[in-house]
Amino acid sequence: MPRALLLLPTATYRAAGFLAAARQLGVEVVVASEEPPALTSTMGDRAVVVPLDDPDRAAQVIEGLDARTPLDAVIAVDDQGVVVAARAGEQLGFPHNPPAAVVRTRDKAALRDALAAAEVPQPRYAVITDPEALPDVGWPRVVKPTGRSGSQGVIRADDPAAAVAAARRAAEIAGGGPLIVEEYVPGAEVAVEGLLRSDHLDVLAVFDKPDTPEGPYFEETLYVTPSRLPDEVLARVERVTADAAQALGLTEGPIHAELRVHKGRVWVLEVAARSIGGLCARTLRLGAGISLEEVILRHALALPLRDLTRESQASGVMMLPIARSGTLVEVRGQDEARAVPGVVGLEITIPRGRPIRALPEGDRYLGFLFARAATPAAVEHALRGAHRLLDVDIV
Ligand SMILES: Nc1ncnc2c1ncn2[C@@H]1O[C@H](COP(=O)(O)OP(=O)(O)O)[C@@H](O)[C@H]1O
Ligand SMILES: [Mg+2]
Repeated sequence: MPRALLLLPTATYRAAGFLAAARQLGVEVVVASEEPPALTSTMGDRAVVVPLDDPDRAAQVIEGLDARTPLDAVIAVDDQGVVVAARAGEQLGFPHNPPAAVVRTRDKAALRDALAAAEVPQPRYAVITDPEALPDVGWPRVVKPTGRSGSQGVIRADDPAAAVAAARRAAEIAGGGPLIVEEYVPGAEVAVEGLLRSDHLDVLAVFDKPDTPEGPYFEETLYVTPSRLPDEVLARVERVTADAAQALGLTEGPIHAELRVHKGRVWVLEVAARSIGGLCARTLRLGAGISLEEVILRHALALPLRDLTRESQASGVMMLPIARSGTLVEVRGQDEARAVPGVVGLEITIPRGRPIRALPEGDRYLGFLFARAATPAAVEHALRGAHRLLDVDIV
């Protein structure tokens, strides 16, 4: 039985998806997390504690484990583990990204520099350490911390006073460190889900984001696939994504890229060396109906992976908007939302009675609503209709 180590950050949404895929495939899992799970003492070499913020030490721990009970793959399920997986993969001889390439994807300034060096189309940008600084990148602009994700601390500013206020707030959210200031790219945003195998990119899905945010904050909401953009624009999106992955030096495993399309031109916002976040992977069924997590496991374990074509029907997810910060009392209307034709799932991921924060400070999702239908328009319609039936009570 193949044995895979999964790097599961404490706050991940992906544990269930990867564990189910491993079960499906008959793969033995070693769970690696930052804190000892309650059962560690009884799980022997099936659970291990690794410091994800210290890749050298984490790779050593994984090497030690491999020496006692050999591993066949090390897989990061989220951003936080990608550097450790690359280091461990390098040491143990598994298919892996160069660690330096993965490090670039975790730092928005390094990512922009790598794309700039390869002339991949992207917004003008500058890195600042003084929130008062007003670099020449045009207006409107977007200010963001260099090391955050999930739109945390990402703020649009239309004039100098707003830019300085945005920079102060972003710096506070990130607890210091450099900020990146970028020209604001208007237009429609898409997300590309891909798999790199020996340098070659297979695009698994392109999602439209029908409610592309225009700021000042950038909450993610709707993702619908397949994209409704014209074929020639999609071809450009795919080519630019492949160019961006190459510019970063990524070679193996999943990537998740975000781009904006305006007047037929394409700009790269971001490329991550991981698959789509939250519970959004549930929207995808590939080949003979397998999950994205199974595709990732198969690739990492060098198991057969033939057909990567997405199913023919359309699919989508709504990341439920968080209108304001407070305490979540309850989400009413869930049964009604689930009964909407096309809706195939609803999961509220913040427990009742827990604090909940809106962007730009927020860092958790309220929940996920899923739909499948014949066309992307029908998926979008189902998601919007079901969302209108939900009554989110935050005090
Ligand atoms: N230069 C930009 N122009 C327009 N929108 C942007 C720009 N940068 C970021 N955004 C918006 O903010 C969102 C989050 O920014 P991103 O750079 O992807 O950071 P994160 O790591 O937080 O996802 C993007 O998906 C996009 O909607
Ligand atoms: Mg992003």
